[in-house]
Amino acid sequence: MQTQHAETLVLHEADDAPHYGNLIDGKWTPASDERESENHDPANGELIGYFPRSGQTEVDAAVAAAKRAFALWRLTPAPKRGEILFRVGQLLAERKEEIARILTREMGKVLVEARGDVQEGVDMAFYMAGEGRRLFGAVTPSELPNKAAMGVREPLGVVACVTPWNFPVAIPSWKTMAALISGNTVVLKPATDTPLSALKLAEVYADAGLPPGALNVVCGTGSEVGMPLVEHPDVVGVSFTGSNEVGRAVNVAAAAQLKRVTLELGGKNAILVLDDADLDLAVEGILWSAFGTAGQRCTACSRVIVQRGARAELERRLVERIAGLRLGHGLDDTTDVGPLINASQAERVHSYMAVARSDGATIAIGGEPARDGTLARGNFYQPTLLTEVKPGMRVAQEEIFGPVLSLIEVESLEEAIAVNNGVAYGLSSAIFTQNVNAAQVAMRDLATGIVYINAGTIGAEIQLPFGGVRGTGNGHREAGLGALEFFTEWKAIYIDYSGKLQRAQIDS
Ligand code: UN1
Repeated sequence: MQTQHAETLVLHEADDAPHYGNLIDGKWTPASDERESENHDPANGELIGYFPRSGQTEVDAAVAAAKRAFALWRLTPAPKRGEILFRVGQLLAERKEEIARILTREMGKVLVEARGDVQEGVDMAFYMAGEGRRLFGAVTPSELPNKAAMGVREPLGVVACVTPWNFPVAIPSWKTMAALISGNTVVLKPATDTPLSALKLAEVYADAGLPPGALNVVCGTGSEVGMPLVEHPDVVGVSFTGSNEVGRAVNVAAAAQLKRVTLELGGKNAILVLDDADLDLAVEGILWSAFGTAGQRCTACSRVIVQRGARAELERRLVERIAGLRLGHGLDDTTDVGPLINASQAERVHSYMAVARSDGATIAIGGEPARDGTLARGNFYQPTLLTEVKPGMRVAQEEIFGPVLSLIEVESLEEAIAVNNGVAYGLSSAIFTQNVNAAQVAMRDLATGIVYINAGTIGAEIQLPFGGVRGTGNGHREAGLGALEFFTEWKAIYIDYSGKLQRAQIDS
């Protein structure tokens, strides 16, 4: 690793766009062999910057820095770690607008949603900062006299956080803040499509006084940075959000070294609409959940499961409203739906239209790339509604990750729940009904990690556990109540003050 480094995340300005560095051991540095990747605005192709295309050398340097930093960070009192996170929260809030604009340019989501993405980081910073004065363990009676027993939480060590492009600030915040408050040190590998948002978050950490090496950011691809991190013998835990396919590979690679892994791998989320639902409300919830972030959320609604009596009216209203959605640049405040993240994602989404047709579904509206006027320069796709969809069709089973919604008609609540649960994923689900009994049954029987009553499938708050069942993950939860379980190790401590040998299970 060469020593050349800059004081800021911009290594040097150039005529076309800035060149950015990795953050390793508190220094902003280029890749050792100077390799770089370009990053472009998905709405118009503009060059945003050049980012290090890192490899094993940078991974080794970052892990070594994190390992050195761990020696001090684990002994830093958790309330002091929390004070740094409070400053992170304050700085993120102050820089919210600046970072949100960068995020919109880099990722495409509309500005109001980009602000929400940053806000989620602010919320998590304050939540985890407070956790610095909790991190509760357990004190429990011993079976023997004059003996104390307690369980304490300890950090794991160096952990890798591998994050997706769809929440470029929120998800790196969830993972790094939970890891750091618990006393771990971190190497973050941001998605190749959204490195700058992660570097801006890292800059906030540095400005808030996080010690060098406690958080390192290494930019690059999954194969050149992500997998080497997962396989690095000094990395003891991996927190990954991304595709099901890559998640499985991460899990298998980590299993060889018995590493702890948390996976969040997407969904095939549904909104159930019963005959008695408030349709005005249901339509709002469906549009927001299906076409917000252009459908590129793990929690996005991609199926509406509607009871027969409400189907025709709901379909009519959805088609009418979808026709009015405006595509455009996310910084333009008249835009409802931004671009898809890149050209290959747009092609992948479009490939599902042929699948839908050949399986017998109908494209009620949309179904084509959007190329009118300035849209031609970006990766835009028309918001799409598929009707006549049957639960077993591929479009009703596979995660599409774009603005494509399938309408499935059912007879009853029981059938709706069975259809909801009959997919390989189980992240989020929702039901619109005025019937308190139906809502209660849904809360019990919808087999997903998150359930909403009379709201859409998106918009989880950070203080509750985030994650799901079946192919959505491997049983762990992120955020609030769930995250500390992953990022800490239990240690049981017994203190015998009897002055004699007391044998558990034998001496009474
Ligand atoms: C994701 O799509 O991976 O609940 C995260 C939501 C957001 C987080 C989504 N708070 O939609």
